[in-house]
Amino acid sequence: MTIKQLYVAGAGLMGAGIAQTAITCGFDVTLREVDDKLLNRGIDNIKKRLDSLVQKGKLDAAQRDAALNRLHPTTSLEAAGRADFVIEAITENFEAKQDLFKRLDGVCKPEAILASNTSSIPITRMAATTKRPDRFIGMHFFNPVPVMPLVELTRGRETSEATLATTLDLSRSLNKTPITSLDYPGFIVNRMLVPFINEAIRALTEGLGTRDDIDQGARLGLHHPMGPLELADFVGLDTHLYICGVLYEGLHDPRFAAPPLLRQLVDAGHFGRKTGRGFYRYGPDGNRLAD
Ligand code: CAA
Repeated sequence: MTIKQLYVAGAGLMGAGIAQTAITCGFDVTLREVDDKLLNRGIDNIKKRLDSLVQKGKLDAAQRDAALNRLHPTTSLEAAGRADFVIEAITENFEAKQDLFKRLDGVCKPEAILASNTSSIPITRMAATTKRPDRFIGMHFFNPVPVMPLVELTRGRETSEATLATTLDLSRSLNKTPITSLDYPGFIVNRMLVPFINEAIRALTEGLGTRDDIDQGARLGLHHPMGPLELADFVGLDTHLYICGVLYEGLHDPRFAAPPLLRQLVDAGHFGRKTGRGFYRYGPDGNRLAD
């Protein structure tokens, strides 16, 4: 099946990143948010990123303009009726995703594929909320989407071979390298990442090292681009806490249990970079501030 029309639900960090990637790869993208304020914020972010690529000489102005012409912002759910392929990238919450997928299932063409960018919620569970579990798949991108080359694909119990084949083709057309995972909590990448971040938070709690010692350890000793505490802030401490819950519930392994300090920061409203405070402090444009 050839994909021409994409519909991306959610214009936050991930949704806007997916839309930016798709329009620069030549796809027509309808990007949906629930209200104009959130929609405009997502569109502004895409414009800023494309402008910065033009300034760096990585994209010419005509390519930027052509890409932006392929972007169709909307608050309409019904606009998904035109789409060949839908990518859901809303908040990491099963109830919210379930509600959205039920509604999308009602308006989408019968042959359209529904994909979720979830990082942890079982695909089979979400697919079962629709009447098209064979045309439902996990398509997990990584932040920042335009930069990170990986996409993790997960088949649910009923996902067809044809759906997987179409999604593999689409991933490659988006210049991403796909890997496939079984439908186990956290799939492949978060199965590795969550215990790593949790261990760093426990090390900080125990006073094994300072925040900067721990992050420098990973940056300089393991050649990671970000230390685990900085990365947790980047992912969002609220999102990380939610993912811990899904993994712990699914695998009953204490490595996935949320460390108390993580819960405390989230309780205090410190979600990381997006709220200006987490393990570090950030300015309004997300740049890290000195302590
Ligand atoms: N959106 C788009 N592009 C971005 C960006 C963003 N939010 N942030 C940075 N970039 C681009 C920059 O424009 C720059 O592009 P060019 O090379 O074309 O000039 C490039 O990324 C490098 O940026 P910088 O030079 O400003 O900064 P940096 O070298 O420190 O890199 C980083 C920034 C790419 C974010 C890097 O620190 C990094 O790779 N960090 C780790 C990211 C990571 O691990 N992500 C996965 C998180 S887990 C996840 O997403 C899934 C989950 O389920 C939790």
